[in-house]
Amino acid sequence: MSNLFPTYARWDVTPASAKGTWLTDKNGKNYLDFTTGIGVCNLGHVPNNVKKAVEEQLEQFWHTSNLFQIDLQEEVAKQLTDASGLDLVFFANSGAEANEAAIKLARKATGRTKIITFIDSFHGRTFGTMAATGQEKIKIGFGPMLEKFEYVPFNDLEALQKAMDENTAALMFEVIQGEGGLNAGDPVFLKQAEELAHNNGSLVIIDEIQTGIGRTGKPFAFQHAGLHPDIVSSAKGIASGFPLGAIIGKKELAEAFSPGSHGSTFGGSPVSLSAAKATLETIFDESFLTNVEAKSAKLFSMLEEALSSVPQVKKLKGKGLMVGIEMAEEAAPYIPAAREKGLLVLTAGTNTIRLLPPLNVTEEEIEQAVSILAETIKEQVTAKA
Ligand SMILES: Cc1ncc(COP(=O)(O)O)c(C=O)c1O
Repeated sequence: MSNLFPTYARWDVTPASAKGTWLTDKNGKNYLDFTTGIGVCNLGHVPNNVKKAVEEQLEQFWHTSNLFQIDLQEEVAKQLTDASGLDLVFFANSGAEANEAAIKLARKATGRTKIITFIDSFHGRTFGTMAATGQEKIKIGFGPMLEKFEYVPFNDLEALQKAMDENTAALMFEVIQGEGGLNAGDPVFLKQAEELAHNNGSLVIIDEIQTGIGRTGKPFAFQHAGLHPDIVSSAKGIASGFPLGAIIGKKELAEAFSPGSHGSTFGGSPVSLSAAKATLETIFDESFLTNVEAKSAKLFSMLEEALSSVPQVKKLKGKGLMVGIEMAEEAAPYIPAAREKGLLVLTAGTNTIRLLPPLNVTEEEIEQAVSILAETIKEQVTAKA
């Protein structure tokens, strides 16, 4: 019997080691890992430069507290502000904590309370971020939610106009909804939504926890649509698997986060930051990101070629190396079937198979994954016919 709360429907795979795109379980079976810890290990498992940076930091010091000047915090904050065009960073430990900070900052800076988010969004599991999430199923049984969140259909400007009022502190959204099913915001809609919020004196918070850190081929996904958010939240891929979250915001918001207003004992841990610094040095490099675009083009075209004749496949979705295959039916049964053949993939929403390979995945690994996936999908479809 397990001594863990059963919060996760765990797979029957016990990792023993992992390197690059490959994971080996304790029985010695090798898997091609196109989940990367749900979009976390963006440089693959145990990347050498990150390992070296962490080992060096472990020799120096592990934890002091945020009462000290931490050089690494300044260095990583500079990497994040340079890459995003924003000014100031607050470090937390996770995505939910980053979003929690964003919500608190938006309320305090505007003196308003309402936050508008989109239906099918996912922002986390704390009370604040669960309330922000536009999916009823994650709230069941947890009692009254934090107040003043309102949800509107994604890509519906009229509904957003109706919801926006003088008490709206912020509009908060993912550019591509990750957990919700890889639903992309229409760039024209996103631009209009941002303008609407700003004209209303409301802030724009973009949740880049899944889409950021090079995942879509740019440092942050909002950059594809030319947006100018006030606050961006980041986590997942930021430190290659070490716990770190961050918000990056405009300098005008500094006063609302004055000493004593917000904090976290472990937020901005030097060990996680050493991993973040090495990770971001690699990923925010222009030629690295150009390569992500090239790998993405290869993955999309190979999937198109392999799956276009399968009637159960409705369409391909996503951007960069955040890729979805929307099925005409539930995607869940395909996941263990692919795993059986040595390929790890995820679902997103109900009907989408989600691929989140490392950003430095090789062309051969892409070919191998597409071949396993196409075989899996075709076999399942034939078995049901
Ligand atoms: C878009 C988005 N926001 C927030 C979160 C929550 O992040 P964490 O699990 O690190 O709290 C996630 C996690 O899946 C996410 O995808």
